Amino acid sequence: MLKKILRVTGIVLGSIVVLAIGYYVKVCISVNNRHTKTYTVTPQVVNIPTDSASYALGGRLIKAKGCTDCHGDDMGGKNFIDDPALGLIVARNLTKGKGGLPQDYSTADWVLALKHGLDRDHKPLIIMPAHEYTMLSEQDMGSIIAYCQTLPNVDRELEESSIGPLGNILTDAGKIALFPAEAIDHNRTLTKEVVPAVTVAYGEYVAVACQGCHRKNMKGGEPVAPGFPVVADISSTGHPANWTDEQFIATLRTGKTPEGKVLNPKEMPWTMTKELTDVELKALHLYLKSI
Ligand code: HEC
Ligand code: HEC
Repeated sequence: MLKKILRVTGIVLGSIVVLAIGYYVKVCISVNNRHTKTYTVTPQVVNIPTDSASYALGGRLIKAKGCTDCHGDDMGGKNFIDDPALGLIVARNLTKGKGGLPQDYSTADWVLALKHGLDRDHKPLIIMPAHEYTMLSEQDMGSIIAYCQTLPNVDRELEESSIGPLGNILTDAGKIALFPAEAIDHNRTLTKEVVPAVTVAYGEYVAVACQGCHRKNMKGGEPVAPGFPVVADISSTGHPANWTDEQFIATLRTGKTPEGKVLNPKEMPWTMTKELTDVELKALHLYLKSI
């Protein structure tokens, strides 16, 4: 009797192991296919401004759009996620120093990365939020590229990104969007210029940077990744709708809310939002209250 129970248990456990391995192999093949897919896109010819105002704009935007949060203050790259389960996600060294971008990395390559979320071989970049940058105006994207093309060299050799087992499983299940290229309309032409003004329309333009976490409807919800807090509702039904412009601006520059909450910049990136101008923040507040 005991022998029989042991044998049956063995068969059941064995089958579970075989099924689990089979499932994981399927997941890996599917995610790898998505990662190595070649996209046929022709990058738009983006005008790269050379005037000092655009250059200064680019220098501010690399902070306000989060580039420095991931690629480091010196843009010399860093390990953005280093977790045995999720994987090692390395935001590349974007300078021309040792371990940086190739010497012949062209303006078209910059556009492939920012507008399409693709590397120069037209394969999807991991995590790099191009689905947001693809909504930038040509003026803003051009200014960012102009600034980045003159970054001082940083010698920093980093590893290649690699996706961990949980990263593969969550990606396959559609729980995390590892390849922003998949969510981009690659045929869309960039808007030439979006003029800053305290309007709902301009606020919507700035709010693209919040969508990744607060969702399109700005109502927040599920944490963006395991270990992160629930994302707050910042639409007309959330706290910010009751704040004055001054309180909204202070919150996004200091990480302290009028209700006394202290926001962790690793979870709610106010180190990025503190770089937004008064006009951008007022427009953003106006937009958030309107939805
Ligand atoms: C959420 C983190 C994150 C943010 C924000 C971010 N990047 Fe990246 N970026 C990455 C990661 C990760 C990679 C490497 C992806 C890979 O290995 O597939 C990358 C790669 C790149 C590349 C390399 C493309 C190539 O061909 O190898 C460029 C260029 C780039 N980013 C520019 C920018 C700029 C400019 C900004 C701001 C406008 C920015 N990134 C914001 C994470 C980020
Ligand atoms: C990387 C993800 C992420 C991005 C990008 C992001 N947020 Fe947040 N935000 C959060 C999370 C998570 C919370 C909740 C933090 C907590 O509960 O501690 C939050 C909280 C807030 C709060 C406080 C709300 C309250 O009720 O106290 C405001 C205001 C806010 N975000 C505004 C913004 C705006 C505006 C943008 C875009 C410019 C933005 N956030 C972009 C993740 C993000």
